[in-house]
Amino acid sequence: MTWLLTGGAGFIGCHVLRSLRSSGRNVVVFDDLSTGLSDRVPDDVPLVEGSVLDQALLEDTMRKYDVTGVIHLAAKKAVAESVAKPLWYYRENVGGMESVLAAMVSCNVGAIVYSSSAAVYGEPTISPVREDIPLDPISPYGETKLVGEWLTRDVAASNGISWTALRYFNVAGAGDPTLGDPSVANLIPIALRSVREGKNCHVYGSDYDTPDGTCLRDYIHVADLAEAHTAAATLLETEQIGLPINIGTGSGSSVIEVLQSIGRALDGEVAYEVVSRRPGDPPALVAAADQASRVLGWSAQYDLDDMTASAAAAAGLQKI
Ligand SMILES: NC(=O)c1ccc[n+]([C@@H]2O[C@H](COP(=O)([O-])OP(=O)(O)OC[C@H]3O[C@@H](n4cnc5c(N)ncnc54)[C@H](O)[C@@H]3O)[C@@H](O)[C@H]2O)c1
Repeated sequence: MTWLLTGGAGFIGCHVLRSLRSSGRNVVVFDDLSTGLSDRVPDDVPLVEGSVLDQALLEDTMRKYDVTGVIHLAAKKAVAESVAKPLWYYRENVGGMESVLAAMVSCNVGAIVYSSSAAVYGEPTISPVREDIPLDPISPYGETKLVGEWLTRDVAASNGISWTALRYFNVAGAGDPTLGDPSVANLIPIALRSVREGKNCHVYGSDYDTPDGTCLRDYIHVADLAEAHTAAATLLETEQIGLPINIGTGSGSSVIEVLQSIGRALDGEVAYEVVSRRPGDPPALVAAADQASRVLGWSAQYDLDDMTASAAAAAGLQKI
């Protein structure tokens, strides 16, 4: 099979690309390079530069390379930006999804792995979070990811497409020092930046109902996440399925535990100060990971120290 990988020049996409290639699969990358980098795509992998909103280019690419499945990662991903620019997020994320599915139908492509997010859950009061709890996203970003799941489900049902939506939890780390996350939107890159700048890292609230009072999140190494895509692709190549699957470790780490882990990676202590809670931060957001294990035969291999050490190396930091 040949897989079309949208967003394959991005942070997660370049790891998925490497995992798919080491499994022996043919891959074509489709990316507009708005945040992706072309040098993350090896020279012997075709890179089609264009927007997923361009359905005609998607169809040309699918036909030219005999594409049989799509892994759709191309999207905008910043929650705060989505609040400021909801129209743009709906256009890019929902419009992009609609265009990818329409091209698949037109070219008879029968499988899709869709990049969803734990943001579809919003602020759940239950932890760990199972895939079948009510979904209630609290940002335009989360809403676009949820609409993407609905679109996929409905178009797949009427066209015999096999699909899964992988709901990533907190993606971190790097599979290689050259493949780090250049965006500073998550706790680990934010803390690494504060170390680099000699500033205190902000901890938003220490009075939550959690063991140390700070928020718990489920951090997943990007190399593990990439393997989950290859496991999903393997399944969709032979089976007709349709369901969302959480991709997390199944256990949570607190903000303080993450800062301590970064301290271990950098042989020192991360300076921090506690500030007020942020609206919209649930106390705990941890995946129920049993469906991934049961359906995909996948589970995470790396731990928090692997994530912080690899993220620090990719950020070029060695010592506090
Ligand atoms: N990073 C996370 O923590 C996280 C968590 C949950 C879900 N996700 C999802 O994972 C996916 C990848 O995220 P990432 O962290 O690698 O982000 P990223 O910005 O590094 O990668 C996105 C890639 O898509 C490309 N792209 C964006 N819009 C495009 C368009 N209209 N047409 C073609 N290409 C386009 C970008 O150039 C980039 O290469 C996104 O769908 C995001 O919503 C990410």
